[in-house]
Amino acid sequence: MNNYVAAIDQGTTSTRCMIFDRTGSVVSVDQREHEQIFPRAGWVEHDPEEVWRNTREVCAGALAKGDLVDSDIVAVGITNQRETTVVWDRNTGKPVYNAIVWQDTRTDRIATELGALGGGQERYRAVTGLPLATYFSGPKVKWILDNVDGARAKAEAGDLLFGNMDTWVLWNATGGTDGGLHVTDPTNASRTLLMDLDTLTWNEQNAADMGIPMSMLPEIRSSSEVYGYIRQRGAFAGLPLAGILGDQQAATFGQACLTPGEAKNTYGTGNFVLLNTGTEKVMSENGLLTTVCYKIGNNETVYALEGSIAVTGALVQWLRDNLGMISSAPEIERLAAAVDDNGGAYFVPAFSGLFAPYWRSDARGAIVGLTRFVDKGHLARAVLEATAYQSREVIDAMNADSGVALKSLKVDGGMVGNELLMQFQADILGVPVIRPVVAETTALGAAYAAGLAVGFWKSEDDIRNNWAQDKQWEPRMDEAVREKQYRTWKKAVTKTFDWVE
Ligand code: G3P
Repeated sequence: MNNYVAAIDQGTTSTRCMIFDRTGSVVSVDQREHEQIFPRAGWVEHDPEEVWRNTREVCAGALAKGDLVDSDIVAVGITNQRETTVVWDRNTGKPVYNAIVWQDTRTDRIATELGALGGGQERYRAVTGLPLATYFSGPKVKWILDNVDGARAKAEAGDLLFGNMDTWVLWNATGGTDGGLHVTDPTNASRTLLMDLDTLTWNEQNAADMGIPMSMLPEIRSSSEVYGYIRQRGAFAGLPLAGILGDQQAATFGQACLTPGEAKNTYGTGNFVLLNTGTEKVMSENGLLTTVCYKIGNNETVYALEGSIAVTGALVQWLRDNLGMISSAPEIERLAAAVDDNGGAYFVPAFSGLFAPYWRSDARGAIVGLTRFVDKGHLARAVLEATAYQSREVIDAMNADSGVALKSLKVDGGMVGNELLMQFQADILGVPVIRPVVAETTALGAAYAAGLAVGFWKSEDDIRNNWAQDKQWEPRMDEAVREKQYRTWKKAVTKTFDWVE
């Protein structure tokens, strides 16, 4: 009885429910993928109703697989793909449009027009910590209100609600049209271009610029408190929902990066490096984001610097699904291991433009350096190396912003099982790469936030004590080789610029 905490991890490619015990070990997992909808080049959508169905199924699945019942669980946390935008009718519970995913580039023109009001790409930086880019939620809401028939009138009448996936899941779980809670946390709100980083409140001027009625915006609560109870019939009915963290902040928390100067890199659909900067908000001068790292109950807000990379694991998926070059993602390591190096080939996966540190929506993907010598193995290697090079670029930016060089890097996420990639990452960074025993730190972080709120874990020290190292990779590459390869990568990146006019 009462021995576990559950986390719902609503990610870009799938939704998972994971159940953890007091030591932070995984007791049970269930997972469902959802459809990736690509209506046009550069557009990416999800069906929010499919996501919500999957959420309910995986919660039931995780209980069943662990042979557990609701009363074994003390609290439920939510973590989610951030920025992905849902707008729905509060009276019917129906989304007015598919969810527009964080990778979607359709708001390029909107972003340029907002910048033209004054300040260009930096217009909202001082207030929100973010550059104006297609990545964030606010312009996606504007696109829906501008393009879906009748949406703006309904929004102005107070009938439409906006949420990222955390809010969509929470609203449905706590009753939906029957009194569902319209709530988010500061880590998610800090990804909208609408939240003031100092006050953790919505900025009315930004919302007005984007024509977004304030009534659409969820209430911003902390990342760890009891928001309400699950009122949906089925798994977890009656349990407290007690934690919300955007997935990258959740991974930072789950990795126990709880002291200023600690950083992690999560290898998922994209890669996201977050550096805890403590209660100090560090403004980037090198293309990074300033974001909320977490806010636990009434404690002070903790901030982070973030290097967001749009496409890493998604490139391996693309090789599998669009080219059929591999039949499963892990196969890429075998293919890459058949050759000694990339044969001169570099693959820059600017599929959604380039995020940090470039913020270029005009970029598109390129493979450069090809000769007849290059074969499948070299390309597989170039695909894996792209993840490591992109990570190096944002870590260089982080070192420049913070003035302190990172001494080691904690890693987590799906791709950290790939030994070849981890070794190459250590080689190209020149610092050790460290993998924890529980590499699914995203769900773990959300479980910690929920468990702290109900007293299941007493303090952040419990999180530190639970963290344990599994493996460490030391850099082995000669410095001159490393810097030459990195220079070539940088040159390859420039070949992707100015592709979209
Ligand atoms: O900002 C996007 C990020 O939250 C998505 O993460 O792991 O679902 O690719 P992931």
